[in-house]
Amino acid sequence: MARILTGTQSSGRQHLGNILGAIQPAIELSKDPKNESFLFIADLHSLTSIKDGKVINENTHATASAWLAMGLDTEKTVFYRQSDVPEVCELAWILNCFTPFPMLENAHSFKDKVSNLAEVSAGLFTYPVLMAADILLYDANLVPVGKDQKQHLEMTRDIAGAFNHRYPGTFILPESKISEETMTIPGIDGRKMSKSYNNYIDIFLPEKELRKKVMSIVTDAKTVEEPKNADSCIVYQIYSLVAGQDEDLEMRRNLEAGNYGYGTAKQVLFEKLMSAFAYEREKFNHFYIDRSKVENELKKGAEKARDVSGPVLARVRKNLGFNLK
Ligand code: TYM
Repeated sequence: MARILTGTQSSGRQHLGNILGAIQPAIELSKDPKNESFLFIADLHSLTSIKDGKVINENTHATASAWLAMGLDTEKTVFYRQSDVPEVCELAWILNCFTPFPMLENAHSFKDKVSNLAEVSAGLFTYPVLMAADILLYDANLVPVGKDQKQHLEMTRDIAGAFNHRYPGTFILPESKISEETMTIPGIDGRKMSKSYNNYIDIFLPEKELRKKVMSIVTDAKTVEEPKNADSCIVYQIYSLVAGQDEDLEMRRNLEAGNYGYGTAKQVLFEKLMSAFAYEREKFNHFYIDRSKVENELKKGAEKARDVSGPVLARVRKNLGFNLK
């Protein structure tokens, strides 16, 4: 049996990058009866970028609706909101005291975010430690994530290893699970799709807005008649992630042959997104309007999560010999 764990921040709506890079792979793993899954919404992490709790709550609801719409089964999965499990904050503090300062200074995501922000909080700096606590608090074995989280997983292992060195047998060292094809989904400008770059596609948008978003994908200035390079075409790159093999080949051939404009390719991509996610779009709306149902699921999930987090935190305190109750 493997314990699978992953989370997504509620710093905005869940986009195609989150869905293909983490949500779908995690839900697939959760379907294997040999696995036990802990899937959560990292609302405390969102405080590093959003300072208004009401906005975070709204995003948390949309994020939970997205997970449920994508097929998360709350009977088979522990699905919860990070802040409903306060043990994570105590563990994060303990781990902070075992984390070398230079390790955090070297975090890529910190360096990236710092360059875009006017104010930098200590929370942003210690973000990877809270993430390590998220994972270690549940004895997770496998963490499905996109490539941008790889370094955070390495840090988690390093922090756990350093702690285990002093207090053997305390933590399980988790492995990241990153799929080659979906590890970095491009955004509409070709950079990594990301909430912070505002270059993302939200597949749950109303039809008109979704179409507008797809139509705004950046392309080069080639005319309709000219042959195009499929591999460097963002429309094709995104299409090939959601289309079947034959459809993928067809768009590639069309682009390479010429007399096939980017506008047509975008329309084909838009229609594909609408059909591929038709069922999920409907389910998203169903959950999104039923706030109390979603809230109920998260509360039930938190209770199950705390059945695990309490004993693990007690083990950490015991091994540390700290304030034993
Ligand atoms: P977040 O909310 O930025 O992203 C959630 C998940 O989506 C993946 N992802 C992508 N994958 C492929 N292509 C993209 N363009 C893309 N954009 C996002 C991310 O890699 C991630 O797996 N720190 C985490 C949340 C977190 C977490 C954890 C994850 C907090 N605690 C514990 C795993 C375990 C984050 O900010 O993800």
